[in-house]
Amino acid sequence: MGSRAARSSIVAATLVLTLVACGDDTESAEGDAAGQEVFDSQGCSGCHSTTGGSGTGPNLDGIYGEEVTLTDGSTVERDDEYLTRAITDPSADVVEGFSPQMPDLGLDDDQVAAVIDYIRSLSG
Ligand code: HEC
Repeated sequence: MGSRAARSSIVAATLVLTLVACGDDTESAEGDAAGQEVFDSQGCSGCHSTTGGSGTGPNLDGIYGEEVTLTDGSTVERDDEYLTRAITDPSADVVEGFSPQMPDLGLDDDQVAAVIDYIRSLSG
């Protein structure tokens, strides 16, 4: 029981170390951390999983660069432009199988850029 918790904190610590070790580009590593901070503090994590499985909103793990089908039947690649629109104008494109329940959380440009870096890092 306790050993499972211990193991997952070791995994978490290893992950952090790996991320730091790989972070030649410290600016983008900071961007991911800032993005995760936005993600947790702005309520995104309440509706979106980053580890798989849908909540109120779609899972965001591994979505960057992948195609998504929208409710109007069109498909679009999840690039920076799409993700910016998904975050700042959530009702413009609605992912198939979901209803337009995502509020415009009023993030500023830096927060949007950081959270997109974070979403991209989930696919890395
Ligand atoms: C109240 C729940 C809710 C909150 C809070 C929320 N979302 Fe969403 N989000 C959704 C739903 C529902 C969808 C699917 C419908 C749509 O596309 O608008 C969605 C869609 C998305 C998509 C497109 C996903 C895809 O598969 O292409 C992204 C990206 C996204 N949200 C990011 C965010 C970020 C970043 C935040 C925090 C700033 C956030 N969301 C906060 C509910 C939420």
